[in-house]
Amino acid sequence: MSKIISWIDERLPIVEAYNKHLGKYYAPKNFNLWYFFGSLALLVLVNQLVTGIWLTMSYNPTGEGAFASVEYIMRDVEWGWLLRYLHSTGASAFFVVVYLHMFRGLMYGSYKKPRELIWLFGMLIYLVLMAEAFMGYLLPWGQMSYWGAQVIVNLFGAIPIIGEDLSLWIRGDYLISGITLNRFFALHVVALPIVLLGLVVLHILALHEVGSNNPDGIDIKKNKDENGIPKDGIPFHPYYTVHDLVGVGVFLFVFCIVVFFFPEMGGLFLEKPNFEPANPLKTPDHIAPVWYFTPFYAMLRAVTVNLFGLDAKFWGVVVMGGAIAILFVLPWLDRSPVRSMRYKGMISKVALGIFVVSFIILGYLGIVPATEGKTLLAQVLTTFYFLYFILMPFYTRMEKTKPVPERVTG
Ligand code: HEM
Repeated sequence: MSKIISWIDERLPIVEAYNKHLGKYYAPKNFNLWYFFGSLALLVLVNQLVTGIWLTMSYNPTGEGAFASVEYIMRDVEWGWLLRYLHSTGASAFFVVVYLHMFRGLMYGSYKKPRELIWLFGMLIYLVLMAEAFMGYLLPWGQMSYWGAQVIVNLFGAIPIIGEDLSLWIRGDYLISGITLNRFFALHVVALPIVLLGLVVLHILALHEVGSNNPDGIDIKKNKDENGIPKDGIPFHPYYTVHDLVGVGVFLFVFCIVVFFFPEMGGLFLEKPNFEPANPLKTPDHIAPVWYFTPFYAMLRAVTVNLFGLDAKFWGVVVMGGAIAILFVLPWLDRSPVRSMRYKGMISKVALGIFVVSFIILGYLGIVPATEGKTLLAQVLTTFYFLYFILMPFYTRMEKTKPVPERVTG
C-alpha cells in the first residue's frame, strides 16, 4: 500500500495535500455547535448531486412530459419517491444549513480580515444556490412552478430600456413555455452545479490558506509552540472529522424524519398548488415563492411608491437586489477592533438581534397574502434590515468593546 502511495505521490502530491487540508490542518480547539454547518452544507451538496443525477435518469424536460414524469418517478420508478423527497427536502435543508452557517459568520465576525475572500466566495455560492433552487423549482411543471417563474422572470421586465428584451431572452419565448423549461433544466443539472462545485472548492481553499476563525475570534496562529504548531489548534483529522460525524448523525436523524413523515412540510417545502399541472390560462389565487426566498419577496412587495418616473416594481427590484448586494460589502462595513460578538458591545448585539428577527418576520410576511398593515410592517422591517448594515461603520467604531483574551476560552 505504501509503495502505491509513494508511486502516486511522486507524480501527484497527495500526501502533501492530505497534510495541508486534514492531518496537519490545525483548527482552533474551541469550535462549537455553529461550526457543524459548513460540513453539513457539504453533505447536503453531495445529497443534491447524487439524488439529482438519479432523478434526471427518469425526468422528462418538456412542457408535455415534465409533470407526468415526476408522477411516474413518484409512483412507478423503484425508490423514485425517496429520490425525489431526498432532493426536494435537501433543497430546503440546504438553505436552513446555509442560513445558520452565515449567521455563525455574522456572530463571530468570520468575514473580517483576513477572511474577506472566504466570505465573498460564500456570497457567490449563496447567489448561485438561489439561481439553482429557482430553476429547479420550475422543473416539476406544476402551477406554482409555472407562475412563480412567471412572476420572477417578469421582474426583469421592470428594468428600464432593456427590461422587456431581457426577460424575453431569459424565457426564450413570449411566456414561460417548454423552451424555458428546457433551458432551465440544462442550467439546473449541468451549468450551475459545476459553478457551485468550483466555488465551494475556492471557498475551502481560501479558508485553509488563512485558517479558521473561532467563537472567540482570536488568531490562533499568534500563539505557536516550539514546533510552530498553534497552541490552541488541533489537527482536523482525526479530531474534527470524528467531531463532525456527530453533527452528521443528528442532522440525518432530523432530515430523515422530515423526508419520511413530513416531506411537504405543510406546504412549505412542496407547495400545494404544485400538485396541479402548469396551466398558462389559470393563475393561482396566491403566488408565493418557497420559504427561503420569502424575506426578499416581502421586501419586493414592501415597495409601493413610484419615484423619478419609475414604477414601484422597479424600486422593489432595486431594494431586493440591494438587500443581497449589501451582504457582499459586509467585511468593509464592520469597523470593530474585535471579531466575535462575545467581545463586541451592546449595540452590536442588539443590532444583530433586531436584524435576525426582522429577517424571520419578513420571511413570514412573504408567505402570506399582503394587507395594508402587513405591507407597513414589511416596510419597517426592510428599513431595519438595511439600517443594520448602513449604520454598522458607526456603531462598531463607537461602542466600547471587551478585552479579548490571549488564548481561546472553552
Ligand atoms: C454550498 C454552500 C457552502 C459550503 C459547502 C460551505 C462550506 C464551508 C466549510 C466546510 C467551512 C469550514 C467549516 C466551518 O467553518 O463551518 C466553511 C467556512 C466558512 N464559510 Fe462556508 N460554505 C457554504 C456557503 C457559505 C456561505 C453562503 C457563506 C457566507 C456568505 C459562507 C461563509 C463562510 C465563512 C465566513 C467561513 C469561515 C468561518 C470561520 O472560520 O469562522 N459559506 N464553509
